[in-house]
Amino acid sequence: MKEKLEQLKAEALRQIESSDALEKLNEVRVSFLGKKGELTSVLKGMKDVAPEERPKVGQLVNETREQIERVLDEAIAKMERMAREAQMKAEVIDVTLPARKNEVGHRHPNTIAMEEVERIFTGMGYEVVEGPEIETDYYNFEALNIPADHPAKDEQDTFYISGDILLRTQTSGTQVHEMEKGKLPIRMIAPGRVFRSDEVDATHSPSFHQIEGLVIDRHITFADLKGTLAEFARELFGEETKVKFRPHHFNFTEPSAEMDVSCFKCGGSGCRFCKGTGWIEILGCGMVHPNVLRMSKIDPEKYSGFAFGIGLERIALLKYEIDDMRLLYENDIRFLKQF
Ligand code: DAH
Repeated sequence: MKEKLEQLKAEALRQIESSDALEKLNEVRVSFLGKKGELTSVLKGMKDVAPEERPKVGQLVNETREQIERVLDEAIAKMERMAREAQMKAEVIDVTLPARKNEVGHRHPNTIAMEEVERIFTGMGYEVVEGPEIETDYYNFEALNIPADHPAKDEQDTFYISGDILLRTQTSGTQVHEMEKGKLPIRMIAPGRVFRSDEVDATHSPSFHQIEGLVIDRHITFADLKGTLAEFARELFGEETKVKFRPHHFNFTEPSAEMDVSCFKCGGSGCRFCKGTGWIEILGCGMVHPNVLRMSKIDPEKYSGFAFGIGLERIALLKYEIDDMRLLYENDIRFLKQF
């Protein structure tokens, strides 16, 4: 019996020694110490041992069990410690490394200027609407009183998709879309991208932005136009700002004008900014032409209105004193971050 136990113990220790994983050690535990394990079956053989011998044999069995258990527990503890150390090594964090910086985005000067214009007009009760960038000839020209053979069409050369479909040259087409809805009165602005076949330079780009404005109601006069746009100029450039209207021609308005603001840099005395004139041109405007109203099913005998078109980039360049439009499109974050 004693010999048998010695053999068992030697075999258990040998298996423990050669185990290279926790599962293996558990298997050893089960096969030697478990309910159906080797040591248990030895205990079952006790009935064949002479009664006076039994206590001694019993003690021997217990000692063997304890020895195997102790070696087993040590082996398990060692293996767990090694696994933990390996994990720590693999997951090492170098706290001296510089932190990764998160670059937070920044609104584009165009966007800031656009939101400012929108804020001013929505404050006066205007609705902000949008029109399609791909337009038909009808909305971009025809319905704005620019017939097929009119020279105004040549001035706004653009990108044609087919004979009748083009990239819009102006946001004025949104006026027609709004009027066609048949809901009066109208008080809207329509910011958006427009396209012209222009060469890139400090003041031109084949793609830029405009903000269109339209008011249609009963008894709208040039005084409403003037009061509204003067208030807009004061909000945008400061209380001191004066405005001046110069006669101009647009097919879709009659009379038409261009509006200048007194130079917010020199106050009107003349500087590099206003090219010495004291005034800066910022928009085109006028009273909506009766032909335009009629084509959009509005009776010019009952309704009248005014319209205006603002070049967004121009506002952004002026407001932030940027002297080259190309900087707005390069999207260099170091430049954009300044505003
Ligand atoms: N669409 C004109 C342009 O691109 C700007 C403009 C002028 C719009 C007068 C208007 C307006 O609505 O009344 O030059």
